[in-house]
Amino acid sequence: MKEYKKLLLSNKAWASERLELDPTYFENLSKTQTPLFLWIGCADSRVPAEEITHADPGDIFVHRNVANMVVHTDINLLSVLQYAVEVLEVKHIIVCGHYNCGGVKAAMTNHDFGLINKWLRNIKEVYEKHYEDLHDITDETARFNKLVELNVAEQIQNLAKTSIVQKAWKNRQFPHLHGWVFDIHKGEIKEVLNINAGEWSSPVFHYDF
Ligand code: CO
Repeated sequence: MKEYKKLLLSNKAWASERLELDPTYFENLSKTQTPLFLWIGCADSRVPAEEITHADPGDIFVHRNVANMVVHTDINLLSVLQYAVEVLEVKHIIVCGHYNCGGVKAAMTNHDFGLINKWLRNIKEVYEKHYEDLHDITDETARFNKLVELNVAEQIQNLAKTSIVQKAWKNRQFPHLHGWVFDIHKGEIKEVLNINAGEWSSPVFHYDF
């Protein structure tokens, strides 16, 4: 069987299973979405947001890219962020990285990867910022893991630097920001950094509204 046909067959099976449990399931699902969470995760196939958090359709608004980055010039990410914060009014934004992240690993090398160099550059900036501390860690895997964690913390701060998030903090005391790392060896999520709504400020990145 062609590989992709398996996905279509599985979809049919999934839809009928749902209907068996609740005949109104899709009728209700189609009405509206009121997710409490925005998830910014890595595109890696091993880190599916709903699966690892046991969430259902409708629970999480999801954006994924290589190495779960919050890049202030990325119109795709910013559009997702604005819609999630201003229209859906999510209460929490999660940036979820993961150990063994190929994007982070690539950024730690000096290889030329072509076009993706431009994207990896954002991770390289985090690497350079913490270069000395990271190289105090002699174990290579531990150093790699540490950069995964530092990168998540940096992306959380990138969220806090946006006028979208700061405006929502002022107007409705949400969203809270959560930096997580998925431990791909254990299946467990580790909390790296939490910033409660409004509990972050910077003399440089603070906006007056
Ligand atoms: Co990754």
